[in-house]
Amino acid sequence: MRIGFLGTGEITAAMVRGLQGQGHQILVSPRNAQVAASLAELPGVSIAPNDRVVAGSDVIFLCLLASVAKEILPGLPFCADHAVISVMVDAPLATLRPLCAPATDIAITIPLPPIAVGGCPLPVYPDTPELHALFGDRNLILPQPSETALNAHLGASALCSPILDQLLTATDWLAGFTGNPAAAEAYIVAMIRAYLPERAAGGDLSAGLQKLSTEGGLNAALRAAMAPAKADLRQGLDGFRPRLELPDTQDRT
Ligand SMILES: NC(=O)c1ccc[n+]([C@@H]2O[C@H](COP(=O)([O-])OP(=O)(O)OC[C@H]3O[C@@H](n4cnc5c(N)ncnc54)[C@H](OP(=O)(O)O)[C@@H]3O)[C@@H](O)[C@H]2O)c1
Repeated sequence: MRIGFLGTGEITAAMVRGLQGQGHQILVSPRNAQVAASLAELPGVSIAPNDRVVAGSDVIFLCLLASVAKEILPGLPFCADHAVISVMVDAPLATLRPLCAPATDIAITIPLPPIAVGGCPLPVYPDTPELHALFGDRNLILPQPSETALNAHLGASALCSPILDQLLTATDWLAGFTGNPAAAEAYIVAMIRAYLPERAAGGDLSAGLQKLSTEGGLNAALRAAMAPAKADLRQGLDGFRPRLELPDTQDRT
């Protein structure tokens, strides 16, 4: 497949690395110059100006900041046959449609940097066969019923940072007793990984939590001590509602 990337930053680098070795022809735009140069060392990857990225590709990934996209997309040679997949935050379909006209096959997905190695969840709306063809073998494609549902995934994706922060706090605490930060980190990461199912299908998380709920046990005691953090988490996620255009009507207390 002929694939183009507009905006060659962190997420493009991860996606291109995730696609390498599959025989695709990939064009990346020249900015960021350093990232583009390192990707161009991969087989099948070339650097081209933005207009040639669009003209020379069947599938075009929009990996720009939304503010930059509004400036540069209107001048690019999109055509009706193009499949456009945006990964941009703050660029809803209503904004993208006029920017990419006459292309009408436009989808939004939410890749994460681990897409470079596979195993990345990829919520998408509307569903698009190109995403399955390119990333479906090694990643978890999750078609969404609406743009609102997709945007809620954007909010949930922010969970990664506070969870890693908590794991670091526990690692520091453990290392304070063992004197070995690397071994402490190895323990924490392996322990958490061991508790997570390879592919959760509904009910797996609550079943796992149930097993960690022995009355008087250390797990139950720490969870009780951290109970206020649950409200903080929900409040933080709810704070995304205006930015992600999520309705106020789904309040669950
Ligand atoms: N990083 C993530 O984990 C992630 C995950 C999901 C979605 N996203 C979304 O993906 C988009 C890109 O994020 P990112 O983290 O990859 O950001 P980034 O590393 O800053 O990449 C943005 C790229 O756009 C380039 N650019 C600026 N002006 C340009 C122009 N006129 N023509 C072509 N390219 C231009 C920048 O080049 P210069 O460096 O030369 O300015 C930079 O390489 C954002 O909308 C973000 O919300 C990111």
